[in-house]
Amino acid sequence: MRALIYDDLVRFYPLLDPLEDHADEAEAYGGVLLGEVPGAQSLLELGAGAGHGAHYIKRHFTSVTLTDLSSPMLGRSRTLNPDCEHRVGDMRTLRLGRTFDCVLCHDAVAYMLSESDLRSVLETAWAHLRPGGAALFVPDALAETFVETHEDHAGDDGDRSLRAISWSYDPDPSDTTHVYDFAFLLREGGEVRAVHDRHVCGLFPEATWVRLAESVGFEVATAQRPLPAEYADSGYTDTMFVLRRRGG
Ligand SMILES: C[S@@+](CC[C@H](N)C(=O)[O-])C[C@H]1O[C@@H](n2cnc3c(N)ncnc32)[C@H](O)[C@@H]1O
Repeated sequence: MRALIYDDLVRFYPLLDPLEDHADEAEAYGGVLLGEVPGAQSLLELGAGAGHGAHYIKRHFTSVTLTDLSSPMLGRSRTLNPDCEHRVGDMRTLRLGRTFDCVLCHDAVAYMLSESDLRSVLETAWAHLRPGGAALFVPDALAETFVETHEDHAGDDGDRSLRAISWSYDPDPSDTTHVYDFAFLLREGGEVRAVHDRHVCGLFPEATWVRLAESVGFEVATAQRPLPAEYADSGYTDTMFVLRRRGG
């Protein structure tokens, strides 16, 4: 199912996920990648969305390529990051035919719903890394620490306003997915409408991540994600996967 906030409702996306909220985490991701690959110059991001994280992390690299399934999301990123290359593509099948020093895949990896999906995006990272390069995967949740949560969201930009509740829960703990339901109230041009946007997301134990990454060929380590204080007990994980392609 198409997520409306990445498509028809993309103009409301910055009200849900403000640019400034990405500054600290992007700095941390840049630090991890440059620690793994000193002197790294090129970065590929899978699922870069509106390019909010990229806006901050790009200063660490001389060339940055941003990819995403959604043209409308990449359209926003093109405006924000005109100095980056943009390519529409599915992270499971993307093949640009060249390699990078580093690959980043952040919250968008949530849309990998099965082990086969997760393995595919790990293979995409491998295919785009030079020997000696490193990938950083930053999932929002892991199965062992997942808890049901809800959050309020509010944003205004002068022309539009958004108020929302998101509700993350797991209807069937025996499978590899959970549900992220958004109830949006969207005000625009004096009109308010209510929209339900359902996101089905993947949920895997840490051991599955490690097993699949090792089976693709990566040397796997974990690092701690610097989660903001308000994310404590939120079901977000602070585990990031640092994947090294040996050689080089
Ligand atoms: C939360 S947004 C990413 C926001 C991004 N981190 C930023 O800083 O702007 C999640 C993104 O995942 C993308 N996505 C979902 N499935 C995908 C897939 N199979 N391949 C590539 N991108 C995908 C969506 O189009 C959406 O833009």
